[in-house]
Order: sequence, then structure tokens, then C-alpha cells
Amino acid sequence: MADKSLRFDEIGYWSEVKLDIIKKYAQAYSTIMAKQKSIEAHVYIDGFAGAGRHISKATGEAVAGSPLNAMKIQPPFTELHFIDLEGSRAAELRRIAAGDRRVRVHKGDCNGILLNEVFPRCRWSDFRRALCLLDPYGLAVDWDVLRTAGEMKSVEIFYNFMIMDANMNVFMHDAGKVAAAQARRMDAVWGDDSWRSAAYTRTEGLFGEIERKATNEDVAEAFRLRLEHVAGFAYVPQAMPMRNSKGAVVYYLYFASQNQTGAKIVEDIFDTYRARGVA
Ligand SMILES: C[S@@+](CC[C@H](N)C(=O)[O-])C[C@H]1O[C@@H](n2cnc3c(N)ncnc32)[C@H](O)[C@@H]1O
Repeated sequence: MADKSLRFDEIGYWSEVKLDIIKKYAQAYSTIMAKQKSIEAHVYIDGFAGAGRHISKATGEAVAGSPLNAMKIQPPFTELHFIDLEGSRAAELRRIAAGDRRVRVHKGDCNGILLNEVFPRCRWSDFRRALCLLDPYGLAVDWDVLRTAGEMKSVEIFYNFMIMDANMNVFMHDAGKVAAAQARRMDAVWGDDSWRSAAYTRTEGLFGEIERKATNEDVAEAFRLRLEHVAGFAYVPQAMPMRNSKGAVVYYLYFASQNQTGAKIVEDIFDTYRARGVA
């Protein structure tokens, strides 16, 4: 019987662009990995998997979500992990994936599940590799997850960094007015409190130091550099700004990997969308 609490998200143009980007790269990734005889398994991980499908705002029709797209990729992923916090969504994912023995659905907070259950199945030394999508609604990914993926060397990520959540709730115009609970949330996402120097610029004025909120681009670049220099990903292309219908940046989509070829493929995909004038 259908679960009455199950809700599908209505998604706009930008979410469809995101789904396309992930699908194109997952296709290329699985093709490359399937050819590598030394690789035991290539794994797809969806940390914030959703209900499996959405409703398009443009057409009112059903749109396959990222887990469904990943299940259909040929050559196939060896193993797929779908995680969602909502019981009704995890149940729907189980229903969709019933009979597909490659799929494991986990209900709960992906931060703990990734570190304790899923990443240990993707170790470099076990000749296993993974592509992990982290696509939250807000600032919900702990830095530990990104750092661990970077250290493992076997896990590549797409990461949606919700700058709109940061702008609305953390980066107040007056740096002194950031609420303590919001600052703690940002520390967990950034890995420490160095976001404060990325989010605000300081210049000498006539009457002392002037502090201003940094631009979105500056914050995005600071985070990109952290993925490279602190998490240890060798290749992190410039993040793609993803917008709402009014043109405001809602989040930055990052790709981070140890693999130059992977980064080049993603840059080409990002460029295709930039050339269409979407970014
Ligand atoms: C943006 S949607 C995912 C959409 C999906 N990636 C797609 O493109 O089809 C975010 C999902 O994350 C789930 N979620 C929120 N917090 C979570 C957490 N801490 N761990 C796992 N899932 C979470 C929500 O229930 C929601 O289904």
C-alpha cells in the first residue's frame, strides 16, 4: 500500500540540469571503470537520495531522480547505496529497487552511514572505487565526510554546497551578529572556523578597519581550495553555480577527484551548460 506520508519534490530547470550533469558523468565513469580489469567493484553512492523520482515544474510529469538514473547506467555499477533520512523515501527506494541485488537502501543520516557503513566498502586497497553524490537541501554535509573521501583516494564526489543557506542563516552582514548555533553548523560544514575569513573581507578605512561580506564567488573559491589542500583531492574544477528561477545562486556544484581524466570530463560537461548560457 502506498505510504501517505510520501511526498515527491517539484523540481525546476536547475535541478533537471543537475540530474543531467550527474547522469552524463556517471555514464562516463562506469564505462571507464568497467574496462579496468584490476578494479573489483565500482560503487555508486547517493547520500541524499530522495524519493527516486520528482515532478517537473515545467511539465507536471514525473522525472527520474538521481538513484533511478544510476540504476539504469550501462555498463552497470557493481553496487549502489541509496541513503535517505525520511522513512517514507527510503521505503519507496526499496520498492523501486526491489529485485536489483546491487542496491542497498539505508534509512538515516548519511553523515554517519557513509563513514561507518558505506565508505569502508570502497577502500583503495580492496581495489574498489566509488562515485558519491552529496545533494542536500541545506548545509548538511559534515566536513569529515569530504575529508575522509579525499583521504581514501578511491572516492570521487559531486557536492552541492548550499550557499543560499549560508547567506540566509550564517553570513550576516555584520560578522558580529552570527548566531552561535549557526556558527557551529558552519564549522561542521567547513571543517573549522576559517570560513569567517573567507566570508568577510577586511580593508583599512579612514576610521579603522572595514569589514564586508565577501562575494559568493570568493566563498566558493575558498571552499574549492579547501577541497584541494585540506581534504586532499588532486583535481577540483571550478564549481558550477546553480541558480533559481530569479537567477540567484542557490548552490555551487563541486566535483572532486584524484583523477585528471574524470575532472576533464566534468569540466567539459560543465562547459556545455555554460555555453548554453545557463551558468
Ligand atoms: C535534494 S533531495 C535529493 C534529490 C536527489 N539527489 C535527486 O537528484 O534525485 C535531498 C534528500 O535528502 C534527504 N535528507 C535530508 N537530510 C538528510 C540526511 N542528513 N541524511 C540523508 N538524507 C537526508 C531528504 O529527505 C531528501 O529526500
